[in-house]
Amino acid sequence: MEKFKVDSKGFYGDFGGAYIPEILYDNVENLKNAYLEVLEDPSFQKEYHDLLRDYVGRPSPLYLAKRLSEKYGCKVYLKREDLNHTGAHKINNTIGQILLARRMGKTRIIAETGAGQHGVATATVCALMNMECIVYMGKTDVERQKLNVQKMEMLGATVVPVTSGNMTLKDATNEAIRDWCCNPSDTYYIIGSTLGPHPYPDMVARLQSVISEETRKQLLEKEGRETPDYLIACIGGGSNAAGMIYHYLDEPDVKILLAEAAGKGLDSGESAATIHLGRLGIIHGTKTLIMQSEDGQIEEPYSISAGLDYPGIGPLHAYLAEVGRAEVLAVTDDEAITAAFELTAIEGIIPAIESAHALGVLAQKKFKSDDVIVLCLSGRGDKDMETYVRIRENQRL
Ligand SMILES: Cc1ncc(COP(=O)(O)O)c(C=O)c1O
Repeated sequence: MEKFKVDSKGFYGDFGGAYIPEILYDNVENLKNAYLEVLEDPSFQKEYHDLLRDYVGRPSPLYLAKRLSEKYGCKVYLKREDLNHTGAHKINNTIGQILLARRMGKTRIIAETGAGQHGVATATVCALMNMECIVYMGKTDVERQKLNVQKMEMLGATVVPVTSGNMTLKDATNEAIRDWCCNPSDTYYIIGSTLGPHPYPDMVARLQSVISEETRKQLLEKEGRETPDYLIACIGGGSNAAGMIYHYLDEPDVKILLAEAAGKGLDSGESAATIHLGRLGIIHGTKTLIMQSEDGQIEEPYSISAGLDYPGIGPLHAYLAEVGRAEVLAVTDDEAITAAFELTAIEGIIPAIESAHALGVLAQKKFKSDDVIVLCLSGRGDKDMETYVRIRENQRL
């Protein structure tokens, strides 16, 4: 991991760091000084792994998708994060961060959410730990992910619809940071992806790394080797991908394919393909690639998928793309939808729209018949049913 490890100032090459307002300095500094010690503490590890096993339902299965494999002429395994409690990988991170928040004496939890999966995962662990929970969510996302809003409210969280910008994940994150600035002493901000100021990207990647840790063992059992030929994951902020690749980063024979949301097409002006289209800048406390205008105004991203609709990308992923360790593919709304319906039809699994972008990679690349592929199926499609139904109805017209 040495080569791809964050440095002491929170950088991966030129990307990362902690660009924060003065008022948050103590908070971020305390977190930076505490997180490694807490995460590596045996009593934390025990509590975290016990909850992952008994509450989340880990290890998540590594499933050989036979019909999908036949279709693409290679061996495709799905890492079934969709089977976790709450329906996605996000809970791996929220369990870890709430245990950390409790150890740091915090009493109030805030979070941002796009697709609502991180919001639900945060509201869930707050119910579990009896802590106050406020979730910021863009109004556009509140409307397109209604089921998750209802779940958060039933779990006792306050969902605050955000009406600035184009009312999606970036705007929700702005509001969460504003709240944090107003309540720095009692509030812990559970960031939902490998984004934000150092130490968040590294901390979230470590908490999600259980995905690749399990994959190594499961693949050894099934294939007689721990390493696949390819890893595939979608990238919104980058947390499921970070988890999927974490324990493989130093093995160059394991090729990494990351899928970002191309929306209506890379040249359409309506996409969220940050690595393809972005330039270096600072967003939400980290230096990374950002979709921005000539004069540095952040451009509003677009994707059918609320969880990929973000104008930045985690600093680790920007770095992996820059140094060529990862290949980044742009997958459009249409390609993702086709892939979602295909998986449903031939494997009986309805994926989240975000995960469907990872599935879209299978049709873009040529694989050899003996290639072993592990694809992170980051979440299930329940929250996206309204979108899927609408598309099916339109197709019938
Ligand atoms: C199911 C699912 N997959 C992927 C993502 C993208 O986030 P990340 O890139 O942090 O994994 C989200 C975000 O909400 C999600 O809900």
